[in-house]
Amino acid sequence: MTDQQPRRRVIANNKDDGDVKTDYASTTSTEAAHSFSIIDILRIVAGLMLLNCLLSYFITNDSLLWGYKPWFIRPAVVLRYIQGPIHLTDAQLLAYNGTDPTKPIYLALNGTIYDVTAGRRIYGPGGSYHVFAGKDAARGFISGCFAEDAVPDLRGVEWTYIPTDVPALGTPGVTAEQKSYREREVRRARKKVREVLAGWAELFEGAKGKKDYFVVGVVDRAEGWLDQVEKRGLCAQAERQRPKGEGSTVEGDAGAAYRGG
Ligand SMILES: *[C@@H]1O[C@H](CO)[C@@H](O)[C@H](O)[C@H]1NC(C)=O
Ligand SMILES: *[C@@H]1O[C@H](CO)[C@@H](O)[C@H](O)[C@H]1NC(C)=O
Repeated sequence: MTDQQPRRRVIANNKDDGDVKTDYASTTSTEAAHSFSIIDILRIVAGLMLLNCLLSYFITNDSLLWGYKPWFIRPAVVLRYIQGPIHLTDAQLLAYNGTDPTKPIYLALNGTIYDVTAGRRIYGPGGSYHVFAGKDAARGFISGCFAEDAVPDLRGVEWTYIPTDVPALGTPGVTAEQKSYREREVRRARKKVREVLAGWAELFEGAKGKKDYFVVGVVDRAEGWLDQVEKRGLCAQAERQRPKGEGSTVEGDAGAAYRGG
């Protein structure tokens, strides 16, 4: 290390100088620490970056950046950035369902539209995810009921993650304890909904992963659109797959009625 040399010299020169030595040595080591911070930190950062790239290359086998593709090396993303976001209504979005091979394939997730044309085999006709194409099926991504829940209405869908022993909203005779249990579980479940959707959004943003998906715009919806839509209950499959909680004595049928809110 370069910082060691001057200090060693100072100490050697002042071997028996008592106080003077201490002062001199501490000044010099401050200077030494200063030069360390500039040169060596740069060197360490460069080394870590190189190591990171090498590790990424050996582990992912094809990428120096852990599969991360910065937006500026993605032509479609740059082009979209220049053109600005597109705006489509839910009805207009349907045209991009993949049946027309000359059109891109779009899908939306809670109002954001993504181009998933790079996955035409999966999202096009006959593909296993074709049900998502041309629509905002955010609810289905949570409940797992893609056919019934191919809608953006997320109200109450958090009950997918709420244990069956949590009393449904509107259940009579719920104790204060059960109420706070319910509040806790609803909060936890809503957080999970956000996390699951964020996970899907990350995939469709295409910054990671092999497929070149990207954001293209937003779905235009009238203000208060949700109030025009009838609230739905949890689909049967999500209901069956709810976690079986423990600790509650209420035998409420948490599944029958709508439980959002
Ligand atoms: C799928 O898109 C095509 C046009 O690309 C449209 O004619 C057709 O109606 C759409 N299908 C549905 C189910 O909306
Ligand atoms: C869905 O979008 C709405 C409106 O932009 C937003 O308020 C809400 O937090 C989003 N929900 C989730 C779970 O991300």
